[in-house]
Amino acid sequence: MGKKSKGKKRARKTVLLGKLLALLPASCILLYPLYLAAQLDSVEEDYVNPALPGAFEGLRLAFVSDIHYGALLGEDRVRALVRRVNAWQPDVILLGGDYGEDSDGALAFWRLRPGFQAKICVAATVGNHDRTLPESNLEKIKEAMRANDVIPLVNDAIVLDRQGQTLALTSTDDFYNGCPDLPRIAALCARADFTVFFPHNPDILAEMDDLPGGPFYQLALCGHTHGGQVALFGHALHSSSQYGDRYLSGWYRENGTDILVSNGVGTSMLPVRLGARPQIHLLTLRSRKAPLLRE
Ligand SMILES: [Fe+2]
Repeated sequence: MGKKSKGKKRARKTVLLGKLLALLPASCILLYPLYLAAQLDSVEEDYVNPALPGAFEGLRLAFVSDIHYGALLGEDRVRALVRRVNAWQPDVILLGGDYGEDSDGALAFWRLRPGFQAKICVAATVGNHDRTLPESNLEKIKEAMRANDVIPLVNDAIVLDRQGQTLALTSTDDFYNGCPDLPRIAALCARADFTVFFPHNPDILAEMDDLPGGPFYQLALCGHTHGGQVALFGHALHSSSQYGDRYLSGWYRENGTDILVSNGVGTSMLPVRLGARPQIHLLTLRSRKAPLLRE
């Protein structure tokens, strides 16, 4: 073989290698959203509100939303999720809905017997995916929750009592696919010293403007938006909220109330995320900021 043909062969190899290297970043960019969708961030923070009754100082509340069990998130990830939440040893676990991709999927989720455990209670509401037809599945889902020692809060509330001070936990039916009854839960929580409202869809919070008496809660915990699922520079590519980015992700303050919108755990439609990492939350409720430690 002459020097010329050896040189040509080496040049062809170099070009091929160059092409492969050029493809690598593109593949990484394409695979990154798939990788991100399979992650899970534990967000642990103090939630400070001077209105919190002293008896509930330090209450540890876990919030988990939008699991979307099914083809995109299997049983192994549900088990891993539950292990992580239970490892917090929270006082209360609130589950924000969208357990499956539809109401049959939600039933399948609860029939896994996921095993959430909290010191005081585990309570759950329903999301738009849980409220797809048939309508009769709602009662079956609530029954399945009870069979898991989980309290269904769908247009309902429970009031925790400690030394005569009260903290209400409440949620409605889903805002889009269900029949939310805000006046009913407002009445149920009217005498509570502090109320945590955890509707699936934060859009319902905008209804407070028309509710007689205004907001009946101090803290709202929501899901549904998935943080946009694919969000660029803080804007959802496709928003599942009728208010666009108003309740996209994170903390907001409206009408004197605090709102946390979680990115949630799973994904809808496609197993991809970008700019919206999957999240679970542990809030430690406090009436004032913890003093800074001094060295
Ligand atoms: Fe969802």
